[in-house]
Amino acid sequence: MLRRLFAGGAGTLVAALMCGGAFAQDTVKVGLILPMTGPFASTGRQIEAAAKLYMAQHGAMAGGKKIELIVKDDTGVADVTKRLAQELVVNDKVAFLAGFGLTPTALATAPIATEAKVPMIVMAAGTSIITERSPFIVRTSFTLPQNTLPVAEWAAKNGLKKVVTLVTDFGPGLDAEKTFTEVFTKAGGSIPEKLRVPLRNPDFAPFLQRAADAKPDALFVFVPSGAGSAVMKQFAERGLNKAGIKLIGPGDVTDDDILNDMGDVALGTITSMHYSAAHKSAENQAFVAAFGKANNGMRPNFMAVGGWDGMHLVYQALAKTGGKTDGEALVGAMKGMKWVSPRGPISIDPETRDIIQNVYMRKVERVDGQLYNVEFATFEAVKDPGKTKK
Ligand code: DHB
Repeated sequence: MLRRLFAGGAGTLVAALMCGGAFAQDTVKVGLILPMTGPFASTGRQIEAAAKLYMAQHGAMAGGKKIELIVKDDTGVADVTKRLAQELVVNDKVAFLAGFGLTPTALATAPIATEAKVPMIVMAAGTSIITERSPFIVRTSFTLPQNTLPVAEWAAKNGLKKVVTLVTDFGPGLDAEKTFTEVFTKAGGSIPEKLRVPLRNPDFAPFLQRAADAKPDALFVFVPSGAGSAVMKQFAERGLNKAGIKLIGPGDVTDDDILNDMGDVALGTITSMHYSAAHKSAENQAFVAAFGKANNGMRPNFMAVGGWDGMHLVYQALAKTGGKTDGEALVGAMKGMKWVSPRGPISIDPETRDIIQNVYMRKVERVDGQLYNVEFATFEAVKDPGKTKK
């Protein structure tokens, strides 16, 4: 009796294991590594919400496989990202690595993607060099040279002669500073001060005081997503707006996630960026409405579209390979892919695996009582200028 029970139990266990095995083959895992806590948590929150919305709207199946999302919090620290990526590849056998809220976390993971031959979708980080660090990297976010070039040209053409730059002192900030400097000085503009603030615990006040003392026509700012509120507050407290100094930059500083709480000081800020929640298209209106409905009224920002389009890439690549998870086949399927995102038409450059997208000139305005980045001009299908110059 006891033996029979035992035998039955073992049989059930074997059946369960076999079932588990079969299930595992029909499931494709996507490891989404993001800063879910710490100073860059808004990036993680936005991307996770967008990825989950994409899956809710498109169903959990792609290429005949069930998609399983595994979200991990790296707190924005590169060593943690690297360890999590290793665990996801070795233990969870993920077919995709995705996320990467900050440039150092993407750079730290690139060798793992190469070694494991696992596609790595960069949904947030924006330093130009990232896609060159592994043939398995594909980017759905943006690059800082891409988002800086239009506002630099705008500044030169709209009567600004003297501009101080203020950037966060890491990859994307240095890319932004370099692109702005090249374009603006070539057009005859001058840059009396180039200020760099630390990534961790920045105090903008002393830098803004130095900027004010130089009496420029404008202050060019790049800070990572989420940090714009502190800049804007200090910009007003130090009286830069009252002194008639314009605020310009790539659109990270007027991030849609926090823009509405900045108050009147943000009005008139001129930025160039690939995404605005106010972008006028049917796709974007549907996206903003569904995102808000699923997330307590939260407004999607430029990080959210990176997550949304990154999931689109996963789904479409699997559809193209018929569910095959060979890394080279998946990256091959992604190259040259084109679609209409909530941000507008986009594609993956087959040469660089980087995103080609429209970049829009915008001005902060009050619309129906809320602050928005209102688009007023379009630079079409911009490739990363950080690469095309080489
Ligand atoms: C990066 C991070 C940001 O939050 C941002 O707005 C732009 C770039 C980055 O680390 O690359």
